[in-house]
This record gives sequence, structure tokens and C-alpha cells, in this order.
Amino acid sequence: MNILITGGAGYIGSHLVEELSKKNKIIVIDNLSTGFKKLIFKKIKFYKLDIRNTNKLKNIIYREKIDTIIHLAAKLSLQESQRKLKQYKSVNIDGTKSILEAIKVSNVKRLIFSSTAAVYSGNKNVSCSEKLKPQPTNVYGQTKYAAENLIRSFSKQNRLKSVILRYFNVVGASKSGKIGPIKDYNQLFKILSKVTLKKKSIITVYGKNHKTKDGSCIRDFIDINDIVDIHTSILKKFHKLKNIETLNCGYGQGISVLKVIKTFSQISKKNIKIKFVKKRSNEISNVFAQNNKIKKILNWQAKYQDLNLIVNRCLKWEKKITYGR
Ligand SMILES: NC(=O)c1ccc[n+]([C@@H]2O[C@H](COP(=O)([O-])OP(=O)(O)OC[C@H]3O[C@@H](n4cnc5c(N)ncnc54)[C@H](O)[C@@H]3O)[C@@H](O)[C@H]2O)c1
Repeated sequence: MNILITGGAGYIGSHLVEELSKKNKIIVIDNLSTGFKKLIFKKIKFYKLDIRNTNKLKNIIYREKIDTIIHLAAKLSLQESQRKLKQYKSVNIDGTKSILEAIKVSNVKRLIFSSTAAVYSGNKNVSCSEKLKPQPTNVYGQTKYAAENLIRSFSKQNRLKSVILRYFNVVGASKSGKIGPIKDYNQLFKILSKVTLKKKSIITVYGKNHKTKDGSCIRDFIDINDIVDIHTSILKKFHKLKNIETLNCGYGQGISVLKVIKTFSQISKKNIKIKFVKKRSNEISNVFAQNNKIKKILNWQAKYQDLNLIVNRCLKWEKKITYGR
């Protein structure tokens, strides 16, 4: 396949590029606003471009004979989205419109879209099924859900097969050891990776009386290598899929924040001090994906669901980017 990956220089995108370039022609477009060119191998064709530049997008799709697009480019900080509504609408909604407009005059037949569990933020369900009507409460979730809907209605009206993936919390680094997360989105695993390299390791935890066993929040953390695996599987099975599919990507069970901290502490052999602060408002205590659908449709099984292994890779990666080893 000739695959265009938007946002391919980002965390998830670069992992997809690494794996999918083994068997496909990969073209990356990214404006490098939160991505890093060094995460992509030199042999990959790269265009520094904003997805909202529809004309240039059309030209690239035509010139590179693209037949499949994986659309990851987005703004994705939940907190920032509340302050920068305009920017989030522009990149996440108008950016997706621009891609669909370019697809319309092209030979692109397949689209995979990276959506998020944040679309369920207002649903108040512990276990989220794709059957729920999403009620996103934050701007990030709202703009991603709006983009999902644009894709659904475009696919209905045009000959485009679309798979919408709702990732839960993606964590970890590549099994190759060559790439991993650089940008810090206030993400627990990334913060802990950095914290363990400091002289004094301290982490802030929001609330200690959530309605969970140990009082800390529980989240469905999915290893990046399983996310890559899901994309590979979709690319193989596209012809068997319905015209529009929406699939949760998670392990179907959560891990508590305190358990994650404990694991980082044990593996890094660092005493991590916990500073408890007030709960964040509207924070759901316990949320995980219902994943029966993706298991059934793709015959998917998690291969990398091993907290110790994930933490090990995170720590190795952080040392590599901090000390160059
Ligand atoms: N990381 C997670 O846990 C997670 C969870 C759910 C969903 N997602 C989704 O996965 C996708 C990728 O997220 P990520 O974690 O790799 O984040 P990231 O910030 O590392 O990657 C996003 C990439 O998109 C690029 N980009 C942003 N705006 C652009 C624009 N206007 N034009 C061109 N490129 C642009 C950035 O430079 C960056 O390389 C996003 O769509 C996000 O909503 C991520």
C-alpha cells in the first residue's frame, strides 16, 4: 500500500512509521508543532506541511499515488484545549475537513482515524462500549468527536472505507528501543520516567479518595506496540470490514495510578515520593474500554499487556534520550 501518515513525526505516528514502512511505501506529513523529525528514519519521505493546506495535500496525495491515509495529526492536550478552543477546532475539525476534501479528488480508498477515549468523558460509565453515544465534556474530546462524525458522513456519501479508533491511554516505547515519547503531555508514564532520573523523585497525585481499591484513579493503559499491531491488522483486513467501523483500543481493564508508581519505583530502584493534592474536578475515578468488538472484528489479542515490560522500556528510552545511551 502507499500510505500517507498525517502527524507521523509524533509519538504514535513515528511508531506506526517504523513498523508499517517494513512492508509499505510510507509518506509522512507533519507540521512539527509537537512532533520531531528525528523520530522518523531518514529513508522515509517527509513533507513539512500543515494538514489545513488542502491544495498542497491534494498534490502530495496525487504525486505519491496514495491509496490509504492514517490521520493522526491533531492537538491533544486536554487542559490546553479548554484555553485554546479556536486552535483545537481549527486543527482537529477543519484539519480533518481538509483531509476529506483532498480525499474526494483522489484515489484514496481507506482511512484510519485516531480518535480518543476522551469522547466518553461525560458518559460516567466505568466500562465504555462503542454503543454509547459519546458525551465529551472537554474541548479536545468534542473536537475529536466532531471529526469522527465528519468522517462517518463522508464515508457514507463517498467510496471511502473508514476505521475510527478510540485509543485509551497509550503508553510505552517501541520494542526496537529506537523510538519512544519525547513530548511531555503530563502523561503519568512519561512523568514517572523523567522523575526516576532526578536526584529527588517526587510525583503529584490528584486525590486519594477516589472510589477505587487504593483510592487513586484507574485507567486503561495500552502499550504502544499493541496500538501498532492494531493498525497492521486493520490494514490486512480492510477488505473484510464494513464501510465504517468504530473500535475502542484498550485492554478492557485498568491499572491504578498508585500501582503504576509502585512499579516504576521497584524497577528503577528509586524511592518515589508521592505528593497528594486535591482531586481534579469532573475527573472520573475508574474508566476502561470494552474491547469485545475489536477482539471479534480483528481477531485481536493484546501481545504486550505486561506492566513490568512497559515500564522497563519507558525507563530505557528515557535514559537514552537523556544521557544518549
Ligand atoms: N497519546 C495518547 O495516549 C492518545 C490517546 C488517544 C488518542 N490519541 C490520538 O492519537 C493521535 C496522535 O497523538 P500522539 O500522542 O502521537 O501526539 P503527538 O503530539 O506526539 O502527535 C501529533 C502529531 O501531529 C502533528 N500536528 C499537529 N497539528 C498538525 C497540523 N495542523 N498539521 C500537520 N501536523 C500536525 C504534530 O506535530 C505531531 O507530530 C492524535 O490524533 C490523538 O488525538 C492519542
